[in-house]
Amino acid sequence: MILEMKNISKSFGAVEALKDVSFTVHSKEIHGLLGENGAGKTTLMNILAGTFGPDAGTIEIDGNIVEGMSPKKAAELKIRFIHQELNLCNDLTVFQNMFLGEEYTKQRWKVDKKREMEHAQKVLDSMNSGIDAHTIVCELDTAQKQMVEIARALLFSSELIIMDEPTTALNNREIEKLFSIMQRLKAEGVSFIYISHKMPEIFSICDRFTVLRDGTFIKSGLIKDIDEHQATELLIGKSFVQAHIKDGIAASITEEVVLKARGLTGQSFRNVSFDLHRGEILVCTGLQGSGTDELATSLFGASNLEAGMLERPDGPLAMHDIKAVMKRGIAMVPRNRKERGILPDLSIRNNNSLSFYVAKHKGLFVTMREEKERFDASQKRLGIKVGSDLDAITSLSGGNQQKVILSRWLEIDADVYIMDNPTQGIDVGAKFSIYTLIVELAAQGKGVIVFTSEYPEIHQLADRCLVLYKGSTAAVLSRDEISEAAIMEYSTGTRKEELN
Ligand SMILES: Nc1ncnc2c1ncn2[C@@H]1O[C@H](COP(=O)(O)OP(=O)(O)OP(=O)(O)O)[C@@H](O)[C@H]1O
Ligand SMILES: [Mg+2]
Repeated sequence: MILEMKNISKSFGAVEALKDVSFTVHSKEIHGLLGENGAGKTTLMNILAGTFGPDAGTIEIDGNIVEGMSPKKAAELKIRFIHQELNLCNDLTVFQNMFLGEEYTKQRWKVDKKREMEHAQKVLDSMNSGIDAHTIVCELDTAQKQMVEIARALLFSSELIIMDEPTTALNNREIEKLFSIMQRLKAEGVSFIYISHKMPEIFSICDRFTVLRDGTFIKSGLIKDIDEHQATELLIGKSFVQAHIKDGIAASITEEVVLKARGLTGQSFRNVSFDLHRGEILVCTGLQGSGTDELATSLFGASNLEAGMLERPDGPLAMHDIKAVMKRGIAMVPRNRKERGILPDLSIRNNNSLSFYVAKHKGLFVTMREEKERFDASQKRLGIKVGSDLDAITSLSGGNQQKVILSRWLEIDADVYIMDNPTQGIDVGAKFSIYTLIVELAAQGKGVIVFTSEYPEIHQLADRCLVLYKGSTAAVLSRDEISEAAIMEYSTGTRKEELN
């Protein structure tokens, strides 16, 4: 299949999401679609998949214009779309979700459950997903849900599969699995459009690329003809030096301990202790399953501790009441915006204000003006790209939603910030400004704990790095001791530090 999208334009109210964009995908290629947050990638894919129509422009397949593209027509043309946001019904089983809208029937109206079940399980097994097709979706974790979304696209033979940031919730092993599935399908003749903000992924899996910037087409070409540095420049439209942020901002780590943890034990981690100092950035890292996820949520009081204690300078924390924890000056940016972050029915401005109301607001009334002023300040600080801040949060691009969630927490001016994968889905340029922001928070005397598994992030941020292996502390590395190799060795258990 050769896909050509020609001269596509699309506006949402005053926002021109796409301006005269042309885009070609050849057969049997993996095509990386690159661009900053809000560049128009998802919008272009929605048009291709028939979610909505373009204001102008055409879609051609093998030289023939496709009129009135709709999701149904896209499916008939063997185009499948794995969306940026999860789209599963939590109350249905895995196989019911996979066949939703495309049920196998027997006799006349009866769904052929057995056949669906067997087919779904076959696909899940071919992915080595370890997922049982009978499971109710709400029992799966985010990574597994993402795998189900991918499996759904693999059910029926397809010619073009669109993947919009499929890996934000996956660990490295799962990403490798996904890539080998993609390679296998490519060999069988399937093309892919692959969207990701992670450059190493683009460079390891894609054959060709197209860059969009601000809704316009910038460049297409072969991946082998550019490097990551050039790609970043194309994306952001200027040269970009990945300086070391900490070099420019004086650290001010003091002796004072703003959060003391002793013997923290939960279901998947045990006996974790640390002192977080004023002005310090402590990074926690570990492979999936090492306990970092649960540690993050329990630090914030969202999942129960079995043993241990957390203490602020003014006394121990009661650890089961998020509101109480917030009022004691702790803020948390949760991971997985897709599931835990946004309230989809509220506006951008209201989403931005949420934490402020819980932690800081006094009195009964909210003034719109004040709310707006606070949002405007955040928007400027993080470069959030919005039409109107009264629009629904879901009208924002994925990365811009993540920025709103960050800003929500920055507003409450806490003493301790716990950030769980704060730059998920955020473009390269904006990542840099978020790192700067985090380093500045610390320089202002906050204590910051960042959970991440991306080495560049650890390198940019960490004053110290706590590595978990199978639920236990494998090492606490000082800034001088941090290297990619050391972190790899401790997090895989090949090296152990003598800790008491
Ligand atoms: N339904 C909508 N209503 C209003 N504006 C929208 C809607 N969908 C997209 N937009 C706007 O169109 C622009 C492009 O958004 P799009 O989601 O295509 O970006 P993206 O390149 O996918 O970004 P990201 O990497 O952050 O996901 C953004 O400014 C966004 O706010
Ligand atoms: Mg998007």
